[in-house]
Amino acid sequence: MPLLCVNVDHVATVRQARLGTEPDPVVAAAMCELAGAAGIIMHLREDRRHVQDRDIDLISQTIQTKFNFEMAATAEMQTIALKINPATVCLVPEKRAELTTEGGLNCVGQEERFIKYLTPLHAAGVRSSLFIDADPAQIKASHKIGAEYVEIHTGHFADAKNRTEQKTELARIIDGIKMSQDLGLKVNLGHGLNYTNILDFAEVEGICEYSIGHSIMARAILVGIDRAVKDMVEIIRTFAD
Ligand code: PXP
Repeated sequence: MPLLCVNVDHVATVRQARLGTEPDPVVAAAMCELAGAAGIIMHLREDRRHVQDRDIDLISQTIQTKFNFEMAATAEMQTIALKINPATVCLVPEKRAELTTEGGLNCVGQEERFIKYLTPLHAAGVRSSLFIDADPAQIKASHKIGAEYVEIHTGHFADAKNRTEQKTELARIIDGIKMSQDLGLKVNLGHGLNYTNILDFAEVEGICEYSIGHSIMARAILVGIDRAVKDMVEIIRTFAD
């Protein structure tokens, strides 16, 4: 069965709105785990707009499932990852002005750089994932880099303006999943997935993890974290393995 990993960045966003101490994303993470999440994701941005260093330190001490540390491929983040030793690092592109991660990482032509960047992390037992668009060139480059996972960006699919555009994006993602799997890459999906659009992936085989933040936290504000996570776990439970 595919697993649900919950991104708790939005809990930190609410806290940072008042620069205070609540709500605590580390507490939210524990509640997500109790409700059935198989992993927790936090993205420590260079500008520290939501998740803080303290959150990363605490989650790495309290996690009961597995921690997926989302980060830009900078020297600072590599040092932090080596210190906290997460289960996985997911490399993402990062732009200061963006509202959220806007697209996949560019791995083409960067193979040597990423191999060098990931070598000490792999040596420390940290698994690697590359957040990429469903683009054959990016998939081939990810394979060359030797990442264990690719997380295929579902944002363009989620943002499609109509069903025709959405189906085109879906077909592109499904081709990308197949190509990645044929190359031996494990495949996760993430960005913009919600309680309805995720159903389009129900029949797609071999997805390891769904990485979901916004839609779960949006629902959690209204019905609570426990119910919001359980609702998504229930949907994913019915999917093809
Ligand atoms: N995967 C990656 C790499 C992301 O950057 C994000 C957003 O932080 C997500 C998944 C989750 O996206 P959403 O919040 O839209 O569910």
